[in-house]
Amino acid sequence: MKVVTAEHAGFCFGVQRAVEEAEKCAKEADTQVFTFGPLIHNASVIRDLEEKGIFAAEADLPENGAVAGEGAQTKKLPNPIIIRAHGVGRETEGLLREHYETVIDATCPFVKKIHRIVAEHSAAGEQIVITGSPTHPEVVGICGWAQGGDCFVISDENEARALILDPSRKVCIVSQTTFHFNKFQDLVEIIKQKVYDVFAFNTICNATEERQKEAERLAGEVDAMLVLGGENSSNSKKLFEICKGVCPHTYFLQTSDDLDRSILLSFDSIGITAGASTPHYIIEEVQKKCQK
Ligand code: F3S
Repeated sequence: MKVVTAEHAGFCFGVQRAVEEAEKCAKEADTQVFTFGPLIHNASVIRDLEEKGIFAAEADLPENGAVAGEGAQTKKLPNPIIIRAHGVGRETEGLLREHYETVIDATCPFVKKIHRIVAEHSAAGEQIVITGSPTHPEVVGICGWAQGGDCFVISDENEARALILDPSRKVCIVSQTTFHFNKFQDLVEIIKQKVYDVFAFNTICNATEERQKEAERLAGEVDAMLVLGGENSSNSKKLFEICKGVCPHTYFLQTSDDLDRSILLSFDSIGITAGASTPHYIIEEVQKKCQK
């Protein structure tokens, strides 16, 4: 059986950087370190991080009111807190800095760039449109940099058509970094039919685009495709959708334990790709299991 692994599979630059920052911080600190929500959407990596003293601590964060109790008003919490690659909104960042002695900002630089665009263009009075999933933490964080109330999130063509914008004001469009490129272009075209003065920033991350294009190409060349990723990872799910559209025998796995080799025996060639939150060792385990 031929097994081909996509070159652009697994941890992207931003996630790798955030994990390294967290591990460095945990080594240097003599206490537990926290991340604002899970550092990445992958249960086995989260377990590894916990063994190193790195815990996701959303429930203990200021915006949930949990640190507003005894002592929190006068004393900052000593545990370092890490802002993950997804980033956070301006207000949340301010609250974290108010309540924690050490805040490590591991926001991916590509996401930071979107924060800057949204902050600048909204401050100039423009309407902001974000293409993406409204509940995804990255999008919630991006919205948190818009000033004023004109920030809209759209995820499909129906929402784009239904969107009511002021045609006399400029529109600035940005995208969630993991959004599908063709879909982004389609939504921009719909907005352009409503408002004359539209400026669209393609803020889809190259890592995502490269991974998606390569996965689509590979899925067209093999008999079956394996997409590895965490169950809550939106970029992995998108990767799955793209591959499934080209290769009907596409399977989603979280780890090599999910791989049922008997299903693969009827295929001559298998392609493997993985979402941005999948560590290399999981990819290797799946490769080995396929080749056994
Ligand atoms: Fe950053 Fe792109 Fe990864 S935006 S977190 S390098 S997918």
